[in-house]
Amino acid sequence: MTLDPQQLVGSSVGSYTVERLIGEGAFAWVFKAHRTDNGTAVALKVLRPVYAGDPQFEARFRNEFEVTSDFNHPNIVRILDVGRDGETTYFAMDYYPDSLAGRLQRDGPLKEEAVVDLARGVADALGFAHDAGIVHRDIKVDNILIAEDGRALVADFGIARAVAGYVSATGQSMTIGTPHYLSPEQAQGRELDGRSDLYALGVTLYKAVTGNVPFSSTDWFELARMHVEDPPEAPRKLRPDISGRLERIILRLLAKHRDDRYPSAAHLIAELDEIKSAARSTETFGLDPAADCVRVDGTRPKWLLPLAAVLLVVMVAIVVVLLGRR
Ligand SMILES: Nc1ncnc2c1ncn2[C@@H]1O[C@H](COP(=O)(O)OP(=O)(O)OP(=O)(O)O)[C@@H](O)[C@H]1O
Ligand SMILES: [Mg+2]
Repeated sequence: MTLDPQQLVGSSVGSYTVERLIGEGAFAWVFKAHRTDNGTAVALKVLRPVYAGDPQFEARFRNEFEVTSDFNHPNIVRILDVGRDGETTYFAMDYYPDSLAGRLQRDGPLKEEAVVDLARGVADALGFAHDAGIVHRDIKVDNILIAEDGRALVADFGIARAVAGYVSATGQSMTIGTPHYLSPEQAQGRELDGRSDLYALGVTLYKAVTGNVPFSSTDWFELARMHVEDPPEAPRKLRPDISGRLERIILRLLAKHRDDRYPSAAHLIAELDEIKSAARSTETFGLDPAADCVRVDGTRPKWLLPLAAVLLVVMVAIVVVLLGRR
C-alpha cells in the first residue's frame, strides 16, 4: 500500500499518468496528471489509503461522485471519471491552474470588482446544486478554482456529504468541513440546507476582501462558539475602500440565524447584479447619486427614482416661472 503520495508521481493510475502532487486535503491527495492516450491535463484526486481501504467510505465516496458527475454547469468543476486501479481509488476532473486560496496568498485581498465576479459565479453554482437538492457543506477558498478567463469554479460537491453519511453510519469521529467556515447551525450539529453554504460563502468573501477569515482560534470549540455568538468585525473597518453595498452583502451572508441570510442563491445573485450595474452607471456618469441611499439588505428604495423625477419637474417649473417674470 502506498503511504507516500510522491510514490505515485510518474506512475499510471487508470488511464492517466501522474505528473506531480498539487495538494493534500483531509481525505485525498490531488495530483496534476494527463490522459496517457492524448495528453489532456486532468486533476486526479486519490483517496488516502486509510479511507480507500474502508469499503463503507469508498462506497459513499463513489456514490456521491456518481450523483454529482451529472452536474453540467460553467461554475462547477466537471468530474470526468471515477475508478479504482489496484488499491488506488481515484477520480479525475478538469484541471485548473489557480484557486482563490492561491490567488489570495499570491496577490493579497482582491479588488471589489473581482470579488463580485467570483461571488456571482459561486452563487450561480450553489443555486444550481441547491435546486438539485445538494448542499456543498465545504465552501472555502481552497474549493474555489479559477479558470484562465477568470471564471470561478466550485470543486468538491458531494465530498462533505459522503463524509457526513459515513460518520453517522459508523460513529467515527471526523471533522466535517473546515472549522473557519462552519455555519452556526453546522457548529450546533443541526440539519443543514443551502443557507449554510451561503454562510460559508460569506466567510470566503470576507477573506477575499480583508485577507482574513472573520473568526480564528486554534481551539475548535472556541471557534464554533464564535460562529454561533460573536458578531464579525465590519469588513470596511479592515478594508475601507470597499462599498457599503458589498459590506452589507457579506454581513447578511454571515447572519447567525439562517432566516436572516438570503433565502436562496438567486436572491444573492440579484444583489450582486445591482452592484455591477451601479458600478457600470458610475463609470458612465462619473457618480452614483443613490449609492448611499440603500436599505440594510442592499436594495434601493422604489420611491427614489419617482422622487428624483418630481424634484426635477419642480425645479424646471421654478426656472420657467422666474424667467417668465423677467
Ligand atoms: N480540479 C483541480 N484542479 C487544480 N487543482 C485542484 C483541483 N482540485 C483540487 N485542487 C487543489 O488541490 C488541493 C487539495 O485539494 P483537496 O480538495 O484534497 O483539499 P482541500 O480542498 O484543501 O481540503 P479538504 O480536505 O477539506 O477537501 C487544493 O489546494 C486544491 O486547490
Ligand atoms: Mg477541496
